[in-house]
Amino acid sequence: MTKNPTILTGIRANSELTLGNFLGALLPMVRLANEYSKKDCHVNIFSPDLHSIISEVDGSLHDNLYRTIKIYLAAGLELNDHIHFYRQSRIPAHSELCWILNCTATMGELNRMTQYKDKSEGKDSVNVGIFDYPVLMAADILLYDATYVPVGEDQFQHLELTRRLAERFNHKYGETFTMPAKPEDQIKFMKTDNGIRIRDLQNPEKKMSKSTPAENSKIMLSDAPTAARKKIMSAITDSVGKIQYDMFNQPGISNLLQIEALVNDAPLQEVISTWAGETHYGDLKQKVAESVATMLEAFQSKIANIQDQTITDLLEAGEAYANEIASTKLLTVQERVGLR
Ligand code: TYM
Repeated sequence: MTKNPTILTGIRANSELTLGNFLGALLPMVRLANEYSKKDCHVNIFSPDLHSIISEVDGSLHDNLYRTIKIYLAAGLELNDHIHFYRQSRIPAHSELCWILNCTATMGELNRMTQYKDKSEGKDSVNVGIFDYPVLMAADILLYDATYVPVGEDQFQHLELTRRLAERFNHKYGETFTMPAKPEDQIKFMKTDNGIRIRDLQNPEKKMSKSTPAENSKIMLSDAPTAARKKIMSAITDSVGKIQYDMFNQPGISNLLQIEALVNDAPLQEVISTWAGETHYGDLKQKVAESVATMLEAFQSKIANIQDQTITDLLEAGEAYANEIASTKLLTVQERVGLR
């Protein structure tokens, strides 16, 4: 009998989330979790708090972490006993497997990671955590034999590395880890037309990122709906004068079409057809601004009604579950490599 696939994802809670995190990772995960947890698949949603400390965190990590989980609930996650929330730092097996995988990953592989290159560019000194980030991520995934890992497109390179490390380990020590699905199969599973990369509103060549200082570039989930509306209305577009989906030549307009589709849970192709032939960028901006503002308003009021105790209870149950699965897997790994 084949096991039902496990679905797993994580979002760092360093700061308030952006619309990019929400549309690229959180909302697709909520939709998948609702569907697959009812089909007896385990769905793990964890907080990669050890990944968070690659950059300075202040005392707000705890609050942000609670808020992130509240966002899942407010976004419509229907809790049941197949959905597990946990903190990476509470499951020691993550760090331990990371070390073991470090001994199979190479410096060359990690040097090629785009995220590492971006984060270290121009810096005199870079912490080892930034470099080793993808190996810890591989441990997060492989400990639970996760097949599907819904993440935004920027994380696909880390997923590829996870697959390579799993393959290498299995080859050397015997079948131990389930191979996560290839990025193209992850996309199919997420039922999105492509990997999702929500763009910076002022510089649509780049992804929308929490670390971009310009406020107009990003929509934060805590933004007042009116502020979010203004940011969309001031989004940079182009001078082509035609509404069409062409990420290469018209990334600003394509980004707006993408946002409109995701916020309304509509197929991207349907939104593209609705706007095909239109030329007034202002009309599209108005519509997207309205969609985003309505969404923010609805879930901000829901978040305010979720108690901290609900989250504490969820984490306690999830951590008991995760510790059991992860420590059993770690034991097998330790045996295979000769530590036991
Ligand atoms: P983080 O916190 O940087 O990002 C969380 C998720 O948000 C997605 N994302 C975006 N998607 C679309 N458009 C954007 N502009 C955008 N910005 C961010 C990211 O792709 C991600 O899915 N390394 C992970 C955290 C992690 C993890 C894991 C995920 C650690 N271990 C194991 C899955 C499985 C990350 O990028 O976090």
